[in-house]
Amino acid sequence: MPSLGLVLLCLVALAPLSLASQPPNIVLIFADDLGFGDLGSYGHPTSSTPNLDKMAAAGLRFTDFYSSSPVCSPSRAALLTGRYQTRSGVYPGVFYPGSRGGLPLAEVTLAEMLKGRGYATAMVGKWHLGLGPNGMFLPTHQGFDHFLGVPYSHDQGPCQNLTCFPPDTPCFGTCDQGVVPVPLFWNQSIIQQPVSFPHLQPLYNSFARDFIVACARRNQPFLLYYASHHTHYPQFGSQEYAGRSPRGPFGDALLEFDGSVGHILQALQDGEVAKNSLVFFTADNGPETMRMSRGGSSGHLKCGKGTTYEGGVREPAMAYWPGRIAPGVTHELASTLDILPTVAALAGVPLPNVTLDGYDLSPILFGSGKSPRQTMFYYPPAPSQSLGVFAVRYGKYKAHFFTQGAFHSDTTPDQDCHGLTPLKGHEPPLLFDLESDPAENYNLLRGGSVGPDVLSALKELCLQKALFDKQMEFGESQLARGSDPSLEPCCSPSCSPKPSCCSCASDS
Ligand SMILES: *[C@@H]1O[C@H](CO)[C@@H](O)[C@H](O)[C@H]1NC(C)=O
Ligand SMILES: *[C@@H]1O[C@H](CO)[C@@H](O)[C@H](O)[C@H]1NC(C)=O
Ligand SMILES: *[C@@H]1O[C@H](CO)[C@@H](O)[C@H](O)[C@H]1NC(C)=O
Repeated sequence: MPSLGLVLLCLVALAPLSLASQPPNIVLIFADDLGFGDLGSYGHPTSSTPNLDKMAAAGLRFTDFYSSSPVCSPSRAALLTGRYQTRSGVYPGVFYPGSRGGLPLAEVTLAEMLKGRGYATAMVGKWHLGLGPNGMFLPTHQGFDHFLGVPYSHDQGPCQNLTCFPPDTPCFGTCDQGVVPVPLFWNQSIIQQPVSFPHLQPLYNSFARDFIVACARRNQPFLLYYASHHTHYPQFGSQEYAGRSPRGPFGDALLEFDGSVGHILQALQDGEVAKNSLVFFTADNGPETMRMSRGGSSGHLKCGKGTTYEGGVREPAMAYWPGRIAPGVTHELASTLDILPTVAALAGVPLPNVTLDGYDLSPILFGSGKSPRQTMFYYPPAPSQSLGVFAVRYGKYKAHFFTQGAFHSDTTPDQDCHGLTPLKGHEPPLLFDLESDPAENYNLLRGGSVGPDVLSALKELCLQKALFDKQMEFGESQLARGSDPSLEPCCSPSCSPKPSCCSCASDS
C-alpha cells in the first residue's frame, strides 16, 4: 500500500492537470521606465517593494528578459502583438496627444486573441498606442472590453500642481506645455480633464479589483492588462505613498506601483482565482537617467532608456503562478515578444495568422526545458530599413553594429550614453560576452588574438543580423503620419481658447 505521503504528493502533482482544461486568467502588469537595477530583488539597496519581492520569491524571476524597444510606444506595440514594432509601424519614437496614427487596427492584439476564447478583457492605465480621429485607436477598438486610463504618458500635457500631494504643494517639473491637459478615459469617454494624478492609482486599483472579482463570480476567464504610469517622469505618489519611501519621489512612485501589485494579488485571492491565474510583471524600457535622482537605475548595465545597450532594454521580469510555476531564477533569454505566443499556448488558442517574432516560453515557465529563444534583436527608437537592427544577441554574445546615445540616458558618467553621442557604425562590430561582462565594457575584438569560439560567435551574429534584416517587412510608419492639434482629446470639443479650455471636473 502506498504511504499517505506518496498519495498526497500525487494529488498535488495532479492538481495542475485538472485545472488545465479551464483556460487560465492572465494578468499582465507593466511598469514604465523601470530599470534593471530598480528592484530589491535585482539588487537595489533601498527600493521598498514588498509585493514584487513576494512575486520574486514565490515566482520565476528572469535575469535576461528583454523589451523590444528602448522607448514606450514601440515596446507596448510589441508586447500586445508579439511582433516587432517595425512590422506594425509603431516607430519612430512615441505617440503624441494629436498623433494621427496608432497601432493599426489590423494588428491582432493579445486581447483580441483571447476574446475569441471567451475571455473578458480590460486595460487599466497608460495606453500610448494612439488615439486618432474619434478615438479610433483606443483600447476598446483593440480587443479590450473595458478601458480606464490615460491615452499617453502623464507628462504629455501641462502638469503644474497636478502631481503633488497635498494639492497645494508646487510640483516638480512642468511637463509638456501647449497641448491639452491630460485626460482620463473610461472606455471612449473623457471622464476627467485634467486627470487628478494623486487620485489616479487608487481609482485603477478599485477598477482592477472590481473587474477581477466580477469575472471570478461569473466564472469567466479574463485578461487584465495593468500598465501603470509609475515610474515614469514626473515621479510622485498619492496621499497613501507620498514621502513614504526611503528613495525620494522615484521610490514613492515605485512603492505605489508595488501597492497596486498587492491589490491585484489580493483580489485574485479574494476572488478565489489565484490558483488559475498567471501574473506576469515586467516594464516597457530602461530608466530615464537624465532625471537623475528622479530617474531609475539600470544597475550594473550600460546606459538606459533610448539606447540599444543592455540598460535600454533589459528589464526586470517575473512570472508568478503559485502551484504551477516553481519559485526560482532563470538566465534563459526571453522577451515581451514571447508573451502573446506563450499565452496562446496556455489558453489553447490558435496563433494569429501573421508573422510573429515571439516564442512559447512554456518550457522555461514550467521547468521542462530551455528557452526556444536563442537570439534577441535590438532596434533603436528610430529604426530604418537601411541600417536594420543596431545589435544582436546570440546566446551569451552580443554584437553592436551601430551605437548611438540618447538624451533619456544623459547625465551618466559614461559618454556613450549621452544624447550628443552620434550614430556610429562598427565594422567589425563591438563584441561582448554578456555572461562575464554584462556591463559591456570589454570589446572582445579590441586587439589581441581571439579564440575560435569568439570567431564563430561573431560569424553567427553577423549572419543572424543579415538574415533578420532581410526578412523584416517594415509596416507604414504610424508616427510619420504626424500630428494634428484638432485631434488632441478635449472634454468640451467646441470650447475656446484651446488647448487650455479643455478642462472639466470629474463627472463620476
Ligand atoms: C465600457 O464598455 C463595457 C463593454 O462594452 C461595458 O460593459 C461597460 O459598462 C462600459 N463602461 C462604461 C463606464 O461605460
Ligand atoms: C501652482 O501652485 C502655486 C502655489 O501653490 C501657484 O502660485 C501657481 O499659480 C500654481 N500654478 C498653476 C499653473 O496653477
Ligand atoms: C493566413 O494568411 C495567408 C496570407 O494572408 C492566407 O493565404 C492563408 O489562407 C491564411 N491561413 C489561414 C489558416 O487563415
